Amino acid sequence: MQDIVLKNVTKAYGSGEGRIVALGGAGFTVKRGEFAVILGPSGSGKSTVLNILGGMDCADGGGIDVFGARVDAMNDRQLVSYRRNDIGFVFQFYNLMPNLTAYENVALASTPGGLDVGELLEDVGLTKRANNFPSQLSGGEQQRVAIARAIVKKPKLLLCDEPTGALDSATGRRILELLLRVRERYGATVIVVTHNAKLAWVADRVIRLADGLVVDEQLNKNVLKAGDIEW
Ligand SMILES: Nc1ncnc2c1ncn2[C@@H]1O[C@H](COP(=O)(O)OP(=O)(O)OP(=O)(O)O)[C@@H](O)[C@H]1O
Ligand SMILES: [Mg+2]
Repeated sequence: MQDIVLKNVTKAYGSGEGRIVALGGAGFTVKRGEFAVILGPSGSGKSTVLNILGGMDCADGGGIDVFGARVDAMNDRQLVSYRRNDIGFVFQFYNLMPNLTAYENVALASTPGGLDVGELLEDVGLTKRANNFPSQLSGGEQQRVAIARAIVKKPKLLLCDEPTGALDSATGRRILELLLRVRERYGATVIVVTHNAKLAWVADRVIRLADGLVVDEQLNKNVLKAGDIEW
């Protein structure tokens, strides 16, 4: 199976009076090599679905098939290997190690057979900043380090949680261009979750979440370039 297929995925947090249903039976498909955007308002379950896809959180029920691997059936050891080898994750607020340089943050995530750290930093325009610590970098630069860290292992699947959320529009557009290029150059399937509907214009596939359910799933007939969208 060459697709990512979620079927009837459920997830609730808490219990009794405080129980919150984050996903109430969500399902969608993303094909290998696609750039997919998952849209939805705050609290609709976007981060929950991304964390479950990335093997960082477990669903209560349903099926999660990623290129033929049943993530919902993996044991802890298999999940460690899945997160380490197959998944690149970009966090909204970068989550870089503050006491490591840009170069070291990326190198820490590299695996045998992965990309060359120096070449990758050049590719994301950070050669001159390689020896700087995160606190010495702008938000856009930190996010580029975070993206480099996520792709250095050549992940099959790149998952991004609001990757442009904390950035101004010009920087956000550059990050989006970089994510599109990652898909082109390294052949990764990319799934971005965001509340920013404009990101949908550059996506091959657009999935809409509301209250823990998929309410719409469409292929984009007129895919725009990152430079062509108005922020
Ligand atoms: N660890 C948790 N414990 C309790 N409730 C949680 C937890 N994580 C998420 N939730 C709840 O599950 C629901 C979905 O949360 P989720 O973080 O997936 O939303 P989101 O679409 O990513 O929102 P945002 O756009 O604000 O990031 C929310 O009501 C949230 O409060
Ligand atoms: Mg979220």
